[in-house]
Amino acid sequence: MRFVVSALFLLVIFSYAAAFDPLDPNGNITIRWDIMSWTPDGYVATVTINNFQMYRHIMSPGWTLGWTWAKKEVIWSAVGAQTTEQGDCSKFKGNIPHCCKKTPTVVDLVPGVPYNQQYQNCCKGGVVGAWGQDPSASVSAFQLSVGMAGTSNKTVKLPRNFTLLGPGPGYTCGKAKVVPPTVFLSPDRRRKTQALMTWNVTCAYSQLLARKNPSCCVSLSSFYNETIVPCPSCSCGCHNKDSCVKSNSKILSMVGVNTPKKDNAPLLQCTHHMCPVRIHWHVKVNYKEYWRVKVSVTNFNYRMNYTLWTLVIQHPNLNNVTQVFSFDYKPLVPYESINDTGMFYGLKYFNDQLMEAGPFGNVQSEILLKKDINTFTFKEGWAFPRKVYFNGDECQMPPPDTYPFLPNSAHQNLLSFSALVSTLIFLLIAIW
Ligand SMILES: *[C@@H]1O[C@H](CO)[C@@H](O)[C@H](O)[C@H]1NC(C)=O
Ligand SMILES: *[C@@H]1O[C@H](CO)[C@@H](O)[C@H](O)[C@H]1NC(C)=O
Ligand SMILES: *[C@@H]1O[C@H](CO)[C@@H](O)[C@H](O)[C@H]1NC(C)=O
Ligand SMILES: *[C@@H]1O[C@H](CO)[C@@H](O)[C@H](O)[C@H]1NC(C)=O
Ligand SMILES: *[C@@H]1O[C@H](CO)[C@@H](O)[C@H](O)[C@H]1NC(C)=O
Ligand SMILES: *[C@@H]1O[C@H](CO)[C@@H](O)[C@H](O)[C@H]1NC(C)=O
Ligand SMILES: *[C@@H]1O[C@H](CO)[C@@H](O)[C@H](O)[C@H]1NC(C)=O
Ligand SMILES: *[C@@H]1O[C@H](CO)[C@@H](O)[C@H](O)[C@H]1NC(C)=O
Repeated sequence: MRFVVSALFLLVIFSYAAAFDPLDPNGNITIRWDIMSWTPDGYVATVTINNFQMYRHIMSPGWTLGWTWAKKEVIWSAVGAQTTEQGDCSKFKGNIPHCCKKTPTVVDLVPGVPYNQQYQNCCKGGVVGAWGQDPSASVSAFQLSVGMAGTSNKTVKLPRNFTLLGPGPGYTCGKAKVVPPTVFLSPDRRRKTQALMTWNVTCAYSQLLARKNPSCCVSLSSFYNETIVPCPSCSCGCHNKDSCVKSNSKILSMVGVNTPKKDNAPLLQCTHHMCPVRIHWHVKVNYKEYWRVKVSVTNFNYRMNYTLWTLVIQHPNLNNVTQVFSFDYKPLVPYESINDTGMFYGLKYFNDQLMEAGPFGNVQSEILLKKDINTFTFKEGWAFPRKVYFNGDECQMPPPDTYPFLPNSAHQNLLSFSALVSTLIFLLIAIW
């Protein structure tokens, strides 16, 4: 028992301190460079970005990939992507490279570019789906023709210092590593070819690097207690409290209120929590063998439609989900022995887009769970989730001692004990 507790402590601490997500321990983004041919002064490489994260996608305005060339390389041309700056190509005559910068920055093209500028899996405005939601959408690729580089696997130098924005900060990339060459299967699956050389770069996400405050919060209610426990005040920080919009009539008089800003700066509806997104968990019905929960997600940002949103919830009874009514559901089993986490996402063309704040800015579903008589209880807030993530970021929960509780239950002592434990955990985290 003590071992389990300390393991849990470590997990909690890890998830705050390093780029490690206990609910998705193998999640990462891998960038693979496959050299497809050598050229007189360099090579042609296919660069593939694979998102192996179960529930974290790259939203619009998409990824930005950067690196530092090891030598004096230039990019002669790019297909399916472009560098944001050409840089100083003044020493070239005649044929001018696409980019001469020592530290190129590459972005995806937007949908609808001419056919001859496209590449397989390109041109999605940098949007990359989550692996757990749609593996076929979790890849992005482009091709580069690199000059003034090595022209064999002995002389080529790997680029260094990779950076990935997805679209904001949060990712840290490791060093490029030469790996066994990728093997490609022909479309008819009857012939295999392989890259001349392949290197991989792995990037991991840390919410702590991404932002100072959470970007979502959780509120709770139940049929057995009329109290609605709101999101904690200033869950997402209150620094932008002056710029929020107080009333809907004011919204109607504002022009271009829903126009996204280049830097994705939000325009929030004023709330005491100041979060762009709130998740509400309502314990709705108690049946003999089942119980039912209603989950709703509300958008408070007038400038954001969340396409392909994901919701991850940890609750001990998620191993016995019987039915999810209007979301898709997939259990996440990060550790073989624990099956208490699941991801929810919208049904395609129905509610896979969480619309901007306003009358349509919410999605909801109900979940039917089968009771396990050995563990099921409404006491001590057991019926409420342990952790909630929206779009891969952990949401702020209310403190456990405020959860709605069963009337007339003799659990005051237990509650203060659990409050003590949680205080201890928070202290430990703070000290760490
Ligand atoms: C990245 O994720 C893939 C898929 O889960 C995994 O096989 C690989 O080991 C991970 N790489 C690192 C460096 O963690
Ligand atoms: C390199 O990355 C690809 C994904 O793009 C992955 O399938 C492969 O396993 C990685 N190789 C190594 C050795 O990590
Ligand atoms: C480089 O290519 C040669 C054959 O051209 C091959 O034998 C060798 O293993 C390759 N080295 C690497 C690091 O890929
Ligand atoms: C790596 O890139 C970052 C951001 O582009 C830059 O600040 C840093 O100086 C670079 N480091 C090296 C060793 O090039
Ligand atoms: C959200 O989508 C709707 C319908 O597609 C569109 O009218 C609106 O401008 C979008 N809002 C934002 C903030 O992009
Ligand atoms: C985990 O729980 C889900 C939901 O009830 C179930 O479908 C799945 O089979 C379980 N997986 C394991 C490995 O127990
Ligand atoms: C709940 O799920 C677990 C494992 O997924 C299974 O062993 C158990 O029998 C299930 N309980 C009920 C009441 O169906
Ligand atoms: C409902 O829960 C709250 C704690 O959130 C508690 O203060 C209140 O007494 C409970 N109501 C009843 C009727 O027990």
